[in-house]
Amino acid sequence: MAAKFTTTDWIWHNGEFIPWQDATIHVMSHVVHYGSSVFEGIRCYNTPDGPAIFRLPEHLRRLRDSAKVYRMEYPYSEEALTAALEELIIRNNLDECYIRPVVFRGYGTVGVNPSGSPVETYLVCWPWGTYLGEGALERGVDVCVSSWARPAPNTLPAMAKAGGNYLSSQLIKMEAVANGYDEGIALAPTGIVSEGSGQNLFLVRDGVLITPPLEGTLLQGITRDSVITIARDLGFEVRQHAIPREALYMADELFFTGTAAEVTPIRSVDRIVVGSGKAGEITLALQARLLDVAQGRVEDRYGWLTPVRSRNEVSVG
Ligand SMILES: Cc1ncc(COP(=O)(O)O)c(C=O)c1O
Repeated sequence: MAAKFTTTDWIWHNGEFIPWQDATIHVMSHVVHYGSSVFEGIRCYNTPDGPAIFRLPEHLRRLRDSAKVYRMEYPYSEEALTAALEELIIRNNLDECYIRPVVFRGYGTVGVNPSGSPVETYLVCWPWGTYLGEGALERGVDVCVSSWARPAPNTLPAMAKAGGNYLSSQLIKMEAVANGYDEGIALAPTGIVSEGSGQNLFLVRDGVLITPPLEGTLLQGITRDSVITIARDLGFEVRQHAIPREALYMADELFFTGTAAEVTPIRSVDRIVVGSGKAGEITLALQARLLDVAQGRVEDRYGWLTPVRSRNEVSVG
């Protein structure tokens, strides 16, 4: 069956490059039944100096942290994974792509206890454009507050980017789409704003940026961190504190952040128009600066880019 995205030639599995179509698993793999995977979503941008991976060390660190929570160990250092990724991007002939490292419990034992199932490590990359649809970055998206809350702290660990957490995300996303919205914003069990199905959230009011704190219901987004850094550098005040639902409707601007979503303006919540109903000025300034850094149009003063070595520096066999 044809995939509904652009496939590439090679995938990296446990130290080997294998053809895309050979990267299959057994139906009795632990991950299929119990959601036992951890993963990352990373972007590689085309810069004037060639492809560069955005905030790779931070993503690889989060992958390791997520695996640690679930007592999963994989025997590849950050250096080895970086080298493998570079070669993968080159082999697949990509200048720009989305990168998906995934570590999971494979085929071994039946039953919840995962300790007898081998840990498998894969690196995949493929071309992927705007996550929330054509024009989303310019015009903004229409969202709802989900009827599904995020899992409570100390239930499913939200700071670990684990496959199982995305059952919550799927409920939020499917409900939003079924009701004609682009995306959903979930509340924490306390009723306080948490995050989108795959994005963090920022609100702007009177020129101040506010984002929910890391209270155990949301992912510690790397784009969230990048936007906080950039916003402060541009002279904006950024606060991390609880956001009551009604503050969403009162915001001057609202936007999502995420590797896939980048900085996506939100133009309405529950059909209530946010600010002027267009992408906000501050939102667009932050989006432009983030993409300027990621795409190498301004100096990488934060050291966020890992350049992919040029083709002739790597022997591809
Ligand atoms: C649930 C969730 N929240 C937030 C984010 C944003 O995180 P990042 O900016 O690191 O991509 C993501 C995307 O990975 C996500 O899946």
